[in-house]
Amino acid sequence: MSVTVLFMPERVTTLAQPGEPLLNAAERAGIAIPTGCLKGACFVCRVAIEGHDNPIRACIATVPSDELSIVHRYAMPS
Ligand code: FES
Repeated sequence: MSVTVLFMPERVTTLAQPGEPLLNAAERAGIAIPTGCLKGACFVCRVAIEGHDNPIRACIATVPSDELSIVHRYAMPS
């Protein structure tokens, strides 16, 4: 079952498979998430997913199983 991932602030969506690497979904959507180490160490790729508590590192994250995931490429105001 595919889920929808919405990348903000571009407002670009793509279909993805739950568990698919988030960077793959971003690339397919034409969204460039900055990366560095690609090992989860440098936090350059940090994004926030609405409804999830803490920012995540996109390079080691997978697409959630939520029907719609809204990914903010920049920190949300607190
Ligand atoms: S690229 Fe370094 S933590 Fe993701």
